[in-house]
Amino acid sequence: MYPFLKQLHSGWAYLALLLLLFAVINAVIGLTSKKEFTAKDRKISLFALIGTHTQLLIGLILYFVSPLGKDSFGQMSNAALRLTSLEHPLINLIAIVLITIGWSKHKKLINSEAKHKTFAIYYGLGLILILSRIPWNLWF
Ligand code: HEM
Repeated sequence: MYPFLKQLHSGWAYLALLLLLFAVINAVIGLTSKKEFTAKDRKISLFALIGTHTQLLIGLILYFVSPLGKDSFGQMSNAALRLTSLEHPLINLIAIVLITIGWSKHKKLINSEAKHKTFAIYYGLGLILILSRIPWNLWF
């Protein structure tokens, strides 16, 4: 169970991050070029939402089976264990909450510029937070 989940979380991370990066770039281009918000833009943002939510779900299960997750919680003096047992899960959870808020907010907006702006801000902040707490040494 553990090796499979670890591999899945490791592999899905590429897809989730690529989808999120693509959605942020798309929103910034849409905003700066004053493009109309179309069904294509909605789909790009939805795929990023689904990709990150799936990663969250895998991460949550992994947290309880990995020796670097719950079992290492509280080891504050060890930076690597503090990262995987506290900082990475907590910051990623906050990032995905922001992404979800961005998605919900855009639905209430009518104006294309406001929709692009909402995605650029909320998805952009989410991406920055996620990138700030990746256990890079484990990943590569
Ligand atoms: C979009 C959000 C997330 C991304 C992109 C992400 C990405 C990653 C990556 C790249 C690794 C290193 C994988 C490797 O060993 O090759 C990792 C490890 C880990 N992640 Fe996440 N993660 C996310 C969310 C979460 C969440 C929400 C949790 C827990 C609630 C979590 C728990 C863990 C744990 C426990 C490890 C260490 C696994 C081990 O090596 O035993 N992750 N994550």
